[in-house]
Amino acid sequence: MILTDEEKAYRDGQYGEAKRLAMELLIGVGDSFGAQRLIPVSSVHILGHYGSLHQAGIDFLERLVSGGGQCEVPTTVDPSSIDYDRWEQFKVPREYMEQQRRLQVAVEKLGVIPSWSCTPYHSLNVPRFGQNVAWAESSAIVYANSVIGARTNRTPFGLDISAALTGRIAETGLYLDENRRGTLLYDIQINDLDDLDYPTLGAIVGSRSGSKIPVIKGLPLTVTNDQLKCFGAGAASAGAVALYHALGITPEAKYEDPFGGKEPEQVHVITRAELDEMEAQITTATPDQKIDMVTMGCPLLSIEEMKAIYHKMKNRRVKQGMHFWIYLTQETYDLGKRLGIIEPLESSGVWFSTRTCATISPVKTWGFSHVMTNSAKCALVVPSEHNVKITYADTDACIRTATEEQ
Ligand code: F3S
Repeated sequence: MILTDEEKAYRDGQYGEAKRLAMELLIGVGDSFGAQRLIPVSSVHILGHYGSLHQAGIDFLERLVSGGGQCEVPTTVDPSSIDYDRWEQFKVPREYMEQQRRLQVAVEKLGVIPSWSCTPYHSLNVPRFGQNVAWAESSAIVYANSVIGARTNRTPFGLDISAALTGRIAETGLYLDENRRGTLLYDIQINDLDDLDYPTLGAIVGSRSGSKIPVIKGLPLTVTNDQLKCFGAGAASAGAVALYHALGITPEAKYEDPFGGKEPEQVHVITRAELDEMEAQITTATPDQKIDMVTMGCPLLSIEEMKAIYHKMKNRRVKQGMHFWIYLTQETYDLGKRLGIIEPLESSGVWFSTRTCATISPVKTWGFSHVMTNSAKCALVVPSEHNVKITYADTDACIRTATEEQ
């Protein structure tokens, strides 16, 4: 790889031990992928949950702290493994909380913006079209690449914080024009898509695309950012989709041919019947199994999604013995408080959880065996983490199950 003089100075330790280590990692990985050079990134989004990073992650971050590391570009962090304010309410074991706190201290000492959110594009870290960024978190990556038209690979832990400390990443994969072209065409022949249809469509596209780049035809021009968020999260978790193009909607498919003049390798037609089939397939529980917990907010809810839940919940309260947990960013929670929609829901028995993640919630501690959700990503990921059965259904059905009229 060809390095600039400044990059050589990083590598040779002239900017301190942490940046030397970060540059060594970036060069090593870049070389192994055949990259020609490093490129500047304008922002980074890192992983920061103890449940995934374990002791090795803490050790690495603390080593960077003691080596004098500081982020050179705006850097946000994914949800924590615990709700910092409510970990006792959610019965998180103290030892687990303490490990996450160590990780938190290290992350903050490195100068990371303590966002603890998987939707950094809602606030705090909003890239522009065409900017190179280095993001971790599959649902955020697919949103940045597809909806915004920024450029990032699926940046793994280690490389993410190294990019933050140096403002560089190896130029490979989706940073290159030729790797951003669509290869598969999905023709959606359904007129009346509702909110649950978007994550379900994402799951269909993800399960059929692997890491290829899908082009979606037939989404309505009125599709919302939240619907695209849920579509992308479904596609990224059912497969390894990091970029999709929605014809006439997402920036690289609005003014240009996303296939770059070539024919798609395959064309898939998606009908209502397939959507129903996927919806049924994501549900692993049988109707007779008692539901212990209903959860929403994967990816973390926006204020618009929160408002919709508030209106559907009017005059209802959580049933005795049922848990209804909603996950959102601290910023959405604070906005909701200002709007006056949080307190009534809390009084009706809803538990909010901020800065953490539905799929790493302490389901095991509570002994839950059957979880209901309106999130395809949550439905696909939670069973492997917690060995529970899933019922996948829309927001109305989730609310009907969790609550009763007052
Ligand atoms: Fe976000 Fe956790 Fe879901 S990081 S996308 S809430 S799995």
